[in-house]
Amino acid sequence: MSSLFNNFSTRSPCGGKWDTTPSPNRQNIRQDWGEVVQARVKNDVRIKAPQTMIFRQIKLGTMENFCYVLGDEDSREAAIVDPHGEIDRLEGIIKRDGLTVKYIINTHTHWDHVAGNDELRGRTGAEVVTHRLGRIPRSLSVEHGDVLSVGSLTIEVLHTPGHSPDGICLLVNGKLLTGDTLFVGECGRTDLPGGNAEQLHNSLFEVICRLDDDIEVYPGHDYGTTPFSTLGHEKRHNYTLEPRTREEFVRFMSEP
Ligand SMILES: [Fe+2]
Repeated sequence: MSSLFNNFSTRSPCGGKWDTTPSPNRQNIRQDWGEVVQARVKNDVRIKAPQTMIFRQIKLGTMENFCYVLGDEDSREAAIVDPHGEIDRLEGIIKRDGLTVKYIINTHTHWDHVAGNDELRGRTGAEVVTHRLGRIPRSLSVEHGDVLSVGSLTIEVLHTPGHSPDGICLLVNGKLLTGDTLFVGECGRTDLPGGNAEQLHNSLFEVICRLDDDIEVYPGHDYGTTPFSTLGHEKRHNYTLEPRTREEFVRFMSEP
């Protein structure tokens, strides 16, 4: 995993530089309100991965949203990603697993991904984490290359704007949580406020597609033929990942 960031492009769509510092030793997460810190039940899939990880994909609400539970099996510390709603049900799963929620992480701050933040924060005391450009109250801001620790788990942050300026993907234990940047068989739309097809092209082709094919893809919505996939499968079968220049992709995204 440590070598993944070494493959990133050094150019952003606007000509700036991505930070290509290898991430595992970098824990420069900023705390907005304080000092710097070091930093499926129905439709519920449980996957017990190596490194004693508890991983749950939970479909919540009426918009096909996926929420994720990332937990360290030994310490029982956990992060909840994109708590859309149904907090009673989510809390039941958290309690059943005996987890203490350290972080609530939003892949971006569109309302359907943050709607459950306040209630879950009130019940768990967890810190809310978004990208620096997120437009909601939070405890921690993260940027590309930052790492969040949850027990023995390391969650690596990839900034993937395009669907929204504050979009991030989370890489943990060979699993990539892609929010609304990449779906199974689709990609995120860019016609909402803050959307940018040039940035999405960079995020898809220069960040995500440079990761290994065997990495598993867990999207923010259940829009595909399957709830999750692999990057290799998406590179071969997702029509939005067919090779296109930036200009071709912008034109493609503007087509009805
Ligand atoms: Fe979204």
